[in-house]
Amino acid sequence: MGRKPKEDVNRPIMVGLVGAGGMAKYHVAGFRKAGAEVVAIADPDADAAERAAAKFDVTQVYDSLEDMLAQTKMDAVSILTPNKFHCPLVLQALAAGKHVFCEKPPALNAKETLRMVAAAKRAGRTLMFNFNNRARPESQAMMKAIASGKVGTINSAQALWIRRTGIPGFGGWFTTKALSGGGPVIDLLHMIDLALYFMGYPEPSYALAGTFDTFMGDKRFKGPWGIPDRANGTCDVEAAAHGFITFKNGSVLFLRNAWAEMNKREEVSVTFQGTKAGGLVRRLFGTDGLDETAEDVCELYCQTAKGLRADKTVRVKPDETMGRVRSATNFVRVLQGREAPLNTPDQAVKLMKIIDAVYASAKTHAPVKIR
Ligand SMILES: NC(=O)c1ccc[n+]([C@@H]2O[C@H](COP(=O)([O-])OP(=O)(O)OC[C@H]3O[C@@H](n4cnc5c(N)ncnc54)[C@H](O)[C@@H]3O)[C@@H](O)[C@H]2O)c1
Repeated sequence: MGRKPKEDVNRPIMVGLVGAGGMAKYHVAGFRKAGAEVVAIADPDADAAERAAAKFDVTQVYDSLEDMLAQTKMDAVSILTPNKFHCPLVLQALAAGKHVFCEKPPALNAKETLRMVAAAKRAGRTLMFNFNNRARPESQAMMKAIASGKVGTINSAQALWIRRTGIPGFGGWFTTKALSGGGPVIDLLHMIDLALYFMGYPEPSYALAGTFDTFMGDKRFKGPWGIPDRANGTCDVEAAAHGFITFKNGSVLFLRNAWAEMNKREEVSVTFQGTKAGGLVRRLFGTDGLDETAEDVCELYCQTAKGLRADKTVRVKPDETMGRVRSATNFVRVLQGREAPLNTPDQAVKLMKIIDAVYASAKTHAPVKIR
């Protein structure tokens, strides 16, 4: 394939995990699937670290990245901590010469993301983010159709991740802006990223958006997952957002992200309209999360030369993890020179500039120029 391995391919790539929370199982499974070894776990919560180490059969446990780097040999570090720590930990790992796979969002804002990307370029190390929805079979099938030219140029897209009762715990890091960077706009950024991926990541021009905190603090709108409530904790992020992005090439993107809003059911989708065909990648969650009423769809809307409908349903193998395992596998395969990266640092910067502008516009009730 002509890709250069970043590491010696005659031995397994060694990865250390930073953060032993809910995402660890997907990272471990994905890295191991590509033949990597998970050699250590670091988490200041000693119980969480020990539990994860036992569960995933990892022998080295540390309470900080610093100790982990000093005491265990590794090629790469995977960062899966609350968002506030992404930037400092990524910078620390890059400074130690490690490749980095970092959970989404890349950081709290574009400024931090720019620092991380510049550091990766300086260090000559690979930096990738977990935009796992790109790795879903539906997304990859759609991307193949787009790359084949069937869709033409995408004029417009609509990105939705809307829940009805999905606030991930009250007063914890998710609802504290200083720790998370924001609510569903930044937490559920996946469909905005996926729409941009399909559109070829055009240069953004303006954002116009509104955010709402109507149900923030209302226990009836808490999701069945997430972290335990913290009494007297902070809840200063939005519960829902609606926005519109324009691009320098004339295309447009509409977005809706919600943890809590009066929606019928949880929908995770990108719809687009191209010059030759339209398309949809969607997951409708069931009444109780991923139950038997959940539905994954990948469709193309085409018209024949004679003006007849030639719509297609693209069938793929279902992936309950929404690409989380596949995305981690891709990171290791990039280091091995076996695959191209599913995302690039420059795309992460563009995405975070859009998110910053959405928040800025919601504050001023005016369009915000994206530079
Ligand atoms: N890609 C996805 O689908 C997806 C889904 C959920 C969460 N996430 C992201 O994954 C990250 C982690 O989320 P989670 O749900 O696993 O969180 P979590 O709260 O379950 O776990 C976070 C862990 O990080 C640890 N931690 C905190 N500071 C640390 C530090 N400085 N060094 C090492 N460990 C530290 C905590 O003690 C905790 O054990 C977040 O950035 C979140 O946005 C991604």
